[in-house]
Amino acid sequence: MLCIGALSGTSINAKEIILCDINGEKIKVLKYGAFDFYQDEKERLIRLVQGRAGELEEISLCNEIVGLSFAKSLKSFLDGVRFKPEVVGFHGQTIYHYESKNGVITYQIGEPLYIAKILGVPVVYDFRKSDIVAGGKGAPLSPIIHKILFGKISKKVSVVNLGGIANITYIKDGRILSAEDLGPANALSDFISKKRLGVDYDRFGKRASEGNLIERAFRETLKFIQKKKKGKKTLGYEIEEAKLYFFELTKDEKPSDALRTAVEISVKIISEAINSFRPDLCILCGGGTKNKFMVSRLKEEIKNPVLISDEVGVNSEFVEPILFAYLAYLRVKNIRIDMSKITGAKFRYLPGKMCLI
Ligand SMILES: Nc1ncnc2c1ncn2[C@@H]1O[C@H](COP(=O)(O)OP(=O)(O)O)[C@@H](O)[C@H]1O
Ligand SMILES: [Mg+2]
Repeated sequence: MLCIGALSGTSINAKEIILCDINGEKIKVLKYGAFDFYQDEKERLIRLVQGRAGELEEISLCNEIVGLSFAKSLKSFLDGVRFKPEVVGFHGQTIYHYESKNGVITYQIGEPLYIAKILGVPVVYDFRKSDIVAGGKGAPLSPIIHKILFGKISKKVSVVNLGGIANITYIKDGRILSAEDLGPANALSDFISKKRLGVDYDRFGKRASEGNLIERAFRETLKFIQKKKKGKKTLGYEIEEAKLYFFELTKDEKPSDALRTAVEISVKIISEAINSFRPDLCILCGGGTKNKFMVSRLKEEIKNPVLISDEVGVNSEFVEPILFAYLAYLRVKNIRIDMSKITGAKFRYLPGKMCLI
């Protein structure tokens, strides 16, 4: 079945779209594309997730903007593609995610009906809501695809997605043991790059590699994140808070030192989690794999072998988009998923909601 996956992650770096041919757990990628948001759309969304433009009108308007923007990108993505997809799995843009003692609040925007209208196929969306209603934390969702793509490569495998936020999946004998969000992967570094250097990210981690560790900012920010993370499986708004906290602590220091420190914070959090599991193999995926400096520092700190997913035959950018194509496939095939070991969902459920116009 031809299925599309579409998302924009917490980094708000691109609208990522993938076309896959899916048959059970056999997944073949046919086409991938990353589409930029218009600069004003992007700035609006960044303001929104930082909670400074949270008025009702702005949220409602951004819901339209994101839906229309994806619909347009999907249309051009499919130009020249001979076969029509049967379904689109659309994650949308998370603008808020917060886990507390009272439950999880999560909000992904992007009106899916615009996509259904322009492509004339059903759109499956609001995947995190269905997980929460089933008693889960709504995140992380990617472990389900980590297991399929990487679960059989070795006996004990850890898969780490290096997005704005890092999340980890622990797999043994092809079965998921557990999964969780860990902390920032690129979030701090991207924020410093934007605020201090006016660029979206530190290309290949070059500036960070030239910088020195700022001890106090490293210690204090780690403490801040660890405190916020205590007892939680998922992260969202806490990372927005951590960005501001880290920025304040480093604003009078050299940008390259701030970037080096941002990388070291991520490396510390991620490597500690992996070293306590001691996998035979650790696989890294997500945009952070392009940050050569971060990857080299992770390889130094992680005691076990580390590979980038490209090295085991899966393009590291494809993993998250494939997830939403696969979840949409399951939804239209009426196959329920077991997320008990991943998000803590209490029963098997149909992922997402479906719409058609
Ligand atoms: N060439 C590169 N050098 C360094 N970092 C990169 C490069 N390309 C992408 N990245 C990092 O990857 C991030 C995007 O990763 P992605 O997996 O899409 O995250 P998310 O899921 O949060 O959107 C960028 O914000 C940036 O930090
Ligand atoms: Mg992204």
